[in-house]
Amino acid sequence: MADLIAEIHALETRAAAAIATAANSEALQNTAQEFIGKKGALTNVMKQLGALTPEERGNVGKAANEFKAKLEALLAQKTSALQNERFAKLAETEFIDLSVTPSPYAAVNAVTPFGGHIHPIAQTQKKLEDIFTSMGFSIVDGPQVEDDYHNFGALNFTDDHPARDMQDTFYTKTGYLLRTHTSTVQIRALERMTPPLRIIAPGRVFRYEEVDASHEHTFYQMEGMIIDREVSVGNLLHLMQTLLTEIFGRAVDVRLRPGYFPFVEPGFELDMKCLVCDGKGCSVCKHSGWVEVLPCGLVHPNVLKAAGLDPQQWQGAAFGLGLNRLVMMQHGIEDIRHFMSGKLDFLRQF
Ligand code: DAH
Repeated sequence: MADLIAEIHALETRAAAAIATAANSEALQNTAQEFIGKKGALTNVMKQLGALTPEERGNVGKAANEFKAKLEALLAQKTSALQNERFAKLAETEFIDLSVTPSPYAAVNAVTPFGGHIHPIAQTQKKLEDIFTSMGFSIVDGPQVEDDYHNFGALNFTDDHPARDMQDTFYTKTGYLLRTHTSTVQIRALERMTPPLRIIAPGRVFRYEEVDASHEHTFYQMEGMIIDREVSVGNLLHLMQTLLTEIFGRAVDVRLRPGYFPFVEPGFELDMKCLVCDGKGCSVCKHSGWVEVLPCGLVHPNVLKAAGLDPQQWQGAAFGLGLNRLVMMQHGIEDIRHFMSGKLDFLRQF
């Protein structure tokens, strides 16, 4: 029995030394496994208990429990010490003294002052606004907290349409919702303006989404709509080609598929060959080589009617550009979560 207790004490000395010198949490985890893991050294000792009297077993068991408790305490201590070290290092490298006026001549506190700049999504939004205003479009806006009518009803979503399901939409307790798309602004514009009209509506939208590399719960879209006496799919395609060529500075590979949206007929999905992986497949294009960037179509007669327009007199075309995805294509950004991460390392690249 004395042998086994001595063995446990020896383990304790070795384990304490290993913990004291561990450089990171991975090393700590390995040490824990080595000594008190299922297949660790303590388990081996305990296997020899069978040969002892019940009283001896009790004594060794007590020593084993004490050893385990001590080790766990040491591990916890070291874990928080390592974390503090990490925070201290971060505090040194990311230190900003807000009371100091940045001087263009001297590096203050050895931290080069960094001027703020426009977020990459807003940069692209601005560029698109320039392109569209040069083609006679007005920029319009609408509320982010919306009612069911503007987000769904007026856009020809039937009462039982699956997109009204709680899973896609954030509802407020007072019967409103966070707009799930900028198509709401089509309705707001039709209420305020008289056709013919051309509008774009960039803005923030929200979905009740499982967040991953290609899905966010908060993202940006830009809606576009033209209403005129005669509007065709040809007009729509021309608009979208202009948009993409201007943004990318060259022709990009696109494909058009039929797509269903209640507020357009016919409706299309315009996909772009993924520029992050050049069509080979990556997390951004969900390994398909193509990215949906521009769903679009001709405005459904029911939408025109809801706005008090006669579908015999007026026609429309609309598109809903996914701004985050477009910017990801522009800059080869592989994860949509970067945009709202607030990480300066990410933002400073643009
Ligand atoms: N609002 C749609 C969405 O967010 C996108 C969309 C599709 C907008 C077709 C349009 C359109 O204007 O014509 O999923």
